[in-house]
Amino acid sequence: MDALQALQIACDAAYAYQTLEAKFSKVPGYLQPMEGFCLYWLGKNWPVHGANLEVGSFKGRSTSWFAAGCKAGNRGKVHAVDHFAGSPEHQIGKEFQDEDIVRLGSTLPAFKENLTRNELLNEVEIRVGKSMDAVRGWDKPIRMIFIDGDHSYEESKKDFDAWSEFVVPSGLVLFHDINVWPGVTKFFQELTAPNDVWRQVGQILSIAIVQRMQ
Ligand SMILES: C[S@@+](CC[C@H](N)C(=O)[O-])C[C@H]1O[C@@H](n2cnc3c(N)ncnc32)[C@H](O)[C@@H]1O
Repeated sequence: MDALQALQIACDAAYAYQTLEAKFSKVPGYLQPMEGFCLYWLGKNWPVHGANLEVGSFKGRSTSWFAAGCKAGNRGKVHAVDHFAGSPEHQIGKEFQDEDIVRLGSTLPAFKENLTRNELLNEVEIRVGKSMDAVRGWDKPIRMIFIDGDHSYEESKKDFDAWSEFVVPSGLVLFHDINVWPGVTKFFQELTAPNDVWRQVGQILSIAIVQRMQ
């Protein structure tokens, strides 16, 4: 690739970032814009076939980035798995008490509203329920998973162990909050100890990316 082709790609990316950041930052959530762009870019460009899956959608910030990327790359819908009852930290009196959880016990209405406003609701298959229940009925090969559900060691491990068996060779699993939340970080460190199946291939802010090697 020469410098002018690289410039064109960089400018297209910068334009997409600027446009989408202005829209998606209005969705309440915990993802940094550059982390969202990582979901967008890989959702659009990762050259592997299969389904797209997110565990932990909350009010739709990460879902919006991921779904916009999959739409731009003709990669199919994003399956958004969440019971929408909030994580332990969103409950009443906890560190990140959430107003929708307090008022309604659910972030699903806000999720739908935000995806509708961003014209992405048709790009998402909403799967309301616990991650471990949703995986029981699942049978599709997966190209890319974003894990951002319960951040404890035990639940992150369960999410990964259950869903990753569907990831095709060269497919990706992305974790949020690595080096931020201790539980998921500990699991990630174990996962990326030298092994033949999963290899860390990137990190954008707190999103760490592993690829299935075989
Ligand atoms: C940190 S929030 C996700 C933030 C979101 N990705 C964003 O961009 O703002 C975690 C979400 O995981 C969901 N969650 C937690 N434990 C879950 C479980 N066992 N099964 C399904 N969803 C779960 C919660 O309801 C919450 O919406």
